[in-house]
Amino acid sequence: MTEAAVHIEPATMLVRLKIWRFNAQTGEKELRDYEIDAPEWACLLDVLDLIKDKVDGTLAYRKSCRMMICGSCGMRMDGKAVLACKERMKPIVDSGHVPVISAMGNLPIVKDLVVDMGPFWNKIKAVKPWLDPGYDEVAERERVVSQQQMNVIHKEALCIMCGCCVSECNSMESDPDFLGPAALAKGMRFVGDARDHDDIGRLNSYNEEHGIWDCTRCYFCNERCPKGVDPRDAIAKLGAESIKQGIDHDMGAKHANWFVTSAKTTGWLRETELVPKTQGVVSAIKQTKFALKLFRHGKVPLPFPPHVAEEVQESRALFDLVKQQGRDGALGIVQGERGLARIDQDAPEGSSGGWGSRDQADITPGKRPTRGKGGEA
Ligand code: SF4
Ligand code: SF4
Ligand code: FES
Repeated sequence: MTEAAVHIEPATMLVRLKIWRFNAQTGEKELRDYEIDAPEWACLLDVLDLIKDKVDGTLAYRKSCRMMICGSCGMRMDGKAVLACKERMKPIVDSGHVPVISAMGNLPIVKDLVVDMGPFWNKIKAVKPWLDPGYDEVAERERVVSQQQMNVIHKEALCIMCGCCVSECNSMESDPDFLGPAALAKGMRFVGDARDHDDIGRLNSYNEEHGIWDCTRCYFCNERCPKGVDPRDAIAKLGAESIKQGIDHDMGAKHANWFVTSAKTTGWLRETELVPKTQGVVSAIKQTKFALKLFRHGKVPLPFPPHVAEEVQESRALFDLVKQQGRDGALGIVQGERGLARIDQDAPEGSSGGWGSRDQADITPGKRPTRGKGGEA
């Protein structure tokens, strides 16, 4: 039998989509219905290609690699940012749902599903996205970086610059100048790099207005990132590292610091003192009326005498342990991530996890990789 004789046409399905069309020049916006036969293995990008080829050649969208590498095909499906080349259509068609496709959020639309990535790249540039090794001379020998050292920035290095996280960022929606999840994850990629010598300079810059402390911790960037970069976790690492390095002038850093101090000294969060410790005494005085109102309604306790938990020594011991083991900076969060990943990985199919041990994590808390020649840990 010849090869041609065994060729089997792929099974097809009828895909229906609604696409927001937009013309930036005229400002016209229209939700148009499309339907087309597509192979059952088709992803959203394949369906858009078929529509453009056979139904409407004026439809505009971006693509390149078709395999989740180039980051070009970011768009929204039913209001959530996705990579079009990652979304399989079969389950959606089977469910009878007709998805709505639109351009990514937080970036100006040029046409249909194409956004202007200029503001995205400006923010990436603002975090100095290159290695600053702190020397000019050419190395006499290769500077070796161990796998253990690279593990620290493994997730951040996976970013493909698709902008899906930026599309979903709540903070950026209210403050377009916020550096945003992609740029800050890129920043962490260099702060955590054993070969970089400008971590303090970088942290100072990321602690400015519109920097790390402006993140509202909504976690939408983690939820929508198609590559598992978890930008919110990268921002948390930058925060932890900043505080460890004494860069804590921002109100957000003071807030975080007070949480730790309060838990360590009394085992409780002393909310009444949160405002003076975070915003300063003048601001606290201005809010006295509001504080008294809260007190009258039993919402906050009086600050004095502070209530101390019976087993407060336990929270103090935990604080000391974290310090001793060097888990108070970014490495503590990396350690936690790797421990959780191991639990997920080790858990047998169908179980809810719990088989791994966080003590086996293959990074060493407290031992920040030595920088400089050779890059040895
Ligand atoms: S967690 Fe922060 S950076 Fe991520 S989407 Fe929310 S506000 Fe933006
Ligand atoms: S962090 Fe994730 S969502 Fe954001 S640009 Fe990188 S790959 Fe895309
Ligand atoms: S086309 Fe490259 S990531 Fe989708």
